[in-house]
Formats: sequence, structure tokens, C-alpha cells
Amino acid sequence: MSNTNQGPVTVLGLGMMGAALANAFVQNGNPTTVWNRSAGKADALVAQGAVLAADVRQAIEASPVVVACVSTYEVLNDLLAGAATELKGKVVVNLTSGTPEDARALAVWAEQNGVRYLDGAIMAVPQMIGLPQALIFYAGAQELFAEHEDLLKPLAGTNVYLGTDTGVPMIYDLGLLSLLWSSLAGYFHAVSLVNSAGVSAEAFTPFALTWIEHVITPAIPQSAQEIDSANFETEVSSLGVNKAAIEHLVATSRQLGINSDFSAAIQALIERRVAQGHAGHSLASLVEAFKQG
Ligand SMILES: NC(=O)c1ccc[n+]([C@@H]2O[C@H](COP(=O)([O-])OP(=O)(O)OC[C@H]3O[C@@H](n4cnc5c(N)ncnc54)[C@H](OP(=O)(O)O)[C@@H]3O)[C@@H](O)[C@H]2O)c1
Repeated sequence: MSNTNQGPVTVLGLGMMGAALANAFVQNGNPTTVWNRSAGKADALVAQGAVLAADVRQAIEASPVVVACVSTYEVLNDLLAGAATELKGKVVVNLTSGTPEDARALAVWAEQNGVRYLDGAIMAVPQMIGLPQALIFYAGAQELFAEHEDLLKPLAGTNVYLGTDTGVPMIYDLGLLSLLWSSLAGYFHAVSLVNSAGVSAEAFTPFALTWIEHVITPAIPQSAQEIDSANFETEVSSLGVNKAAIEHLVATSRQLGINSDFSAAIQALIERRVAQGHAGHSLASLVEAFKQG
């Protein structure tokens, strides 16, 4: 995403993601100062025109906006605490992943230390940074986001502001990761089953993709409507029907020596809702089972 806002920016952290972020700024023409614990990771960026700072304080002093992307909030908190004087009046855009509470706590620290803070969650892998399909969620003061939206455009094609609660980007991040892990785990379980019959993953995959397209994808907006209206009446696929079907999945997995923990966990949620009198409700009503802890 090229951008006409070519203001100076500092990037703290040049791991796989931080290096991709710094590279996007350099390619956009932003004067880019970088710092990383292992300085050698800056070599390729310096060759492209980035400036390597000797330490975190010098890196922060170099630019009004500091984009941070290190492994954890614990690491970042230590780095920022060690440069609290230099950070006064600066903008920190934190793209490190953690929990919503990590993000909220850092926002409080920033406020107490005169730092203007935006928290972000990157929904992309490093090779997507700078491309239209990259998505970054942001939260923090609205005027702060509006002021820096253009500067941040080289990082992702889609930048979504989610409000002032800095914990919310991490909630979206964790929600989408939950979707990623559970849907892929479902695929891996399915492949384990078909492998047991001598069917390769590649032979099975076209059917998996068709199933996703025609059954799973339409079920998501349909479920959203049911959840938001709290109306789970269905004549299509009730929890009672699913309860009987998932028993077969768990039993067959066990018979074949395939791990059934994942499907047993879903089975337990279905059984709980059925026991609570919701056998006639749709699968979407499992959201209530999740909320019961
Ligand atoms: N990679 C992805 O696909 C992806 C996608 C979305 C979000 N993220 C998030 O982006 C963040 C960075 O991920 P990454 O993929 O870049 O990880 P990474 O390649 O493992 O890089 C970790 C970074 O943290 C630094 N670091 C770790 N411990 C440190 C310490 N004690 N003091 C100073 N610096 C320290 C590392 O410095 P050294 O180089 O010196 O070790 C490096 O810059 C994570 O929060 C991750 O969850 C990553």
C-alpha cells in the first residue's frame, strides 16, 4: 500500500513481523529508524535506507511515532519502561500480540507516562504486510487514529478502527485465531479419518473445500442472525440430530485409534445444551454453552 504520508517512523523489533513492517515503511519512502536486540537483523533494512539506532532510547528519539512489534507485552513493557523519558509526547503504535488485559494495562501505563497509545492486532502473516489483503485492527483515542491512519497505510490494505477500548483488537485477534485453529483442526481430524481408509489428503481436499463453500460458509452469517436475535428455532439441523451424529464421530475415531479429544469437547457442549432442553435448537445455540464457561 503506497502512501503519500512519508513522515518519519521508528520500528522496535525486527523479528519476522517487525522486519516486514519496517520494510513496508522503507519501501513507502518513510525515513525509518529501526532497533532490534540482535542488531544483525537490521542489515537488509539498512541496505535499503533504514537507520539502525544504537539503543531503544536513540530509536525513540529519532521519530514522533514508534511502531513496536516484539515477541510479548512483557518484553515490550520492559523496553518502554527503560525509555519513559524519551517517550513523553510520542505516539506508540503497538502491534505486539498478547491478551486484551495486556493491551489495556499498557494503555494505562502510556497515559500515566504522557505517551499517546494505539494498540493494534495484525491479521496477516509477514509476507502479506503491505498487500491489500492484509488487515490490521486498531483501538485507542479516535483522533489519534485519525491523525495517524495515513502514516500506517503502507502496512496493510485494510485498517479498521474498533474504538477507544485498547483491549478490543486482541479480542478480535483471539476470536479469529480460534476460528483458524478450530477449523484447521477439524480438517486435520477429517484427514486422519480418511487416511485410515487409504485416502490421501489431496484426494479428500476438493470435497472439504466444497463442504466449506456450500455448508460452512453460509452457516456463519445464518448463525450470526440467529445469535443476534436469540432465536435458535430450526427445522434444518437441530442439536438433537447433531448429538446422535457426533456420537458416531467420537466412537469411530476411538475405534480407529484417532485422537477424539477435539470432537469429544464439541460433543460435551452439544450434550449440555440438549440436557438443558434445547434439542430442537440449531447449532448456533452452542454459543450459549460457550458463555456458560
Ligand atoms: N509472524 C506472524 O505471522 C505474526 C502474525 C501476527 C502477529 N504477530 C505478532 O508479532 C509479534 C512479533 O512476532 P514475530 O513473528 O516477529 O516473532 P519473532 O520473529 O520471534 O520476533 C520476536 C521479536 O521480539 C524480540 N525479542 C524477544 N525477546 C526479547 C527481549 N527479551 N528483549 C528484546 N527483544 C526481544 C526479538 O528480538 P531478537 O531478534 O533479538 O530475538 C524479535 O525482534 C508477536 O507478538 C506475534 O504474535 C506475528
